Amino acid sequence: MRLHVADHPLVTHKLSVLRDRATPSPTFRELARELVTLLAYEATRNVRTVEVEVVTPVTTTTGLAIADPKPLVVPILRAGLGMLDGFVALVPTAEVGFLGMARNEETLQPTTYAERLPDDLTGRQCFVLDPMLATGGSLSAAIQFLVDRGASDVTAICLIAAPEGVAAVEKATAGLDVTVVVGALDEKLNEVGYIVPGLGDAGDRLYGTVG
Ligand code: PRP
Ligand code: URA
Repeated sequence: MRLHVADHPLVTHKLSVLRDRATPSPTFRELARELVTLLAYEATRNVRTVEVEVVTPVTTTTGLAIADPKPLVVPILRAGLGMLDGFVALVPTAEVGFLGMARNEETLQPTTYAERLPDDLTGRQCFVLDPMLATGGSLSAAIQFLVDRGASDVTAICLIAAPEGVAAVEKATAGLDVTVVVGALDEKLNEVGYIVPGLGDAGDRLYGTVG
């Protein structure tokens, strides 16, 4: 697994506002969108391309186009949905699949409650969106889901990660072609599985609490 931690003042600035508990949902959603666009720029560095001929007003030259099959982007519901617009702003031709996962807040184990993905992902480049990489259980399960359907390489974009979660994903994906791009690598997990300093519950901050 390759880990890329963004090292850019704009990312850190936007994350600092996101972390602030006084930041309201509308601002939080807008910042999450902007952050993903910045991180997607790095995450798509190895997106597959083909050469194309371009006729400019002056001459004919060779350019690049994103290759077929187009990349598949998979937001992990619920919180990952807040990252989708920012990703497709940068890669508008990406296809979109959905995985719904919820972490049991007592056992910290994820369960998958929804799935809408192509049956066959053979050879597909996949991008997974999930703002929080905490224990790593959700992301590990999501990556396994895609690999089981044939995905050839998977890049995850997370806003904030805990070292414990990064280590868990690395172990779970040994031997697979996986890249994780994060906006910040935080200090640790606390005793209830939240990232410290983190930003709290990403889904709640985006969409409000669920009953
Ligand atoms: C959050 C977050 C990740 C997961 C991370 O989702 O968006 O999916 O927890 O935790 P982990 O690394 O320990 O698995 P949550 O399960 O709270 O669901 P939500 O997005 O619906 O709020
Ligand atoms: N899920 C969140 O939304 N936040 C955390 O800090 C950990 C898991």
